[in-house]
Amino acid sequence: MNTYLDHNASTPLDERVLDEMMPYLRAHHGNPSSVYREGRIARQAIETARQQVAQFVNAHPSQVVFTSGGTEANNLALKGLVVAPRCVAVSAVEHASVLAPAQQSAIEACQLVRIEVDNDGLITEETMSRALASSPELVSIMLANNETGVIQDVAHWAEMVASTGALFHTDAVQAAGKMEIDFSSLGVQLLSLSSHKLYGPKGVGALVLDKRIELTAQMLGGGQEAGYRSGTENVAAIVGFGKAAELASLELQSRCSSALALKQKLLRRLSEVEAVIVFSGQAECLPNTVFLAVPGIDGETLLMEMDRAGIAVSSGSACDSQKSGVSHTLLAMGVDEELARCAVRVSIGKDNTDQDIDVFMSAMVQQIKALQENTMLAWA
Ligand SMILES: Cc1ncc(COP(=O)(O)O)c(C=O)c1O
Repeated sequence: MNTYLDHNASTPLDERVLDEMMPYLRAHHGNPSSVYREGRIARQAIETARQQVAQFVNAHPSQVVFTSGGTEANNLALKGLVVAPRCVAVSAVEHASVLAPAQQSAIEACQLVRIEVDNDGLITEETMSRALASSPELVSIMLANNETGVIQDVAHWAEMVASTGALFHTDAVQAAGKMEIDFSSLGVQLLSLSSHKLYGPKGVGALVLDKRIELTAQMLGGGQEAGYRSGTENVAAIVGFGKAAELASLELQSRCSSALALKQKLLRRLSEVEAVIVFSGQAECLPNTVFLAVPGIDGETLLMEMDRAGIAVSSGSACDSQKSGVSHTLLAMGVDEELARCAVRVSIGKDNTDQDIDVFMSAMVQQIKALQENTMLAWA
């Protein structure tokens, strides 16, 4: 059996989520915009899911706009403001789905400011003050990083940004299901979610928004989702997302504590292996993520060897948005390019066991040894 340790890339569909979705794939085929019974059944299912997602992040159901995923939610937040910001500030470690629309806005009209991070991947008072000196009208900082798992103090930065009158968006795609998220108390106006990071189906997500913000839809048509996002809703996927959000709320504590116990075991075992470097070791991180490197061993090569051994992990380059083959997050943290090429990400999920960590560690030790020997032979 394969050992899956790449839950930040995607999670398996929870059986309970699939059960909830099946009637909307098999039986209830109605269009949620239709007024007859079949349509009303589909509409009701969407509204139940909206309540579940809203409850998951302590928002009002009317604040939840379903999208095709985290990417679309981020694009809507970054590009959709009716009054286009003259200056946008985004952190240097954002996901491509924030960086790319921000860069596009910069080409078209506005100024783009990069909020730098320290060696652990954290925004600091100094880097934030420097960014705010350019008077951005929209700031986007992710709640937790997909590569390092580093958690930014979004509530603190949002308070600081609010005092300037600017709007705040947070990409909570990786944080969701791995830490408590409270839209109301975070102080942000826009928050992105994705279902497939929390054991729901792929191709569905949400933008949670403060209704006072005026957004222009990026997808025009029939005016679904209160006009924010036209297109016939993917009812089964939305139902699955709702159920996944409900389960993530109910099981948050147990999922976090079991992931953390496995992460601590993994870190303990890694510390016994000479030369392994763990990034962002001093920062507060998600309970499931470890980003590491073995200097001199290419991350992509290690990943492929692990794949041959039946173990799924990510390399730093797979996470890179800039297609340079090196993690832009690590480069922003000041890690040198050669070491960044060695990065490998392990992300633990709710169904991983102690044994998965043992399997990973023994394959890792074996591969490191073999790859080091190969490197030495190449030098001989
Ligand atoms: C931090 C972050 N934001 C956004 C996304 C995009 O979400 P989706 O895959 O639903 O488009 C991802 C996916 O990896 C992510 O890790």
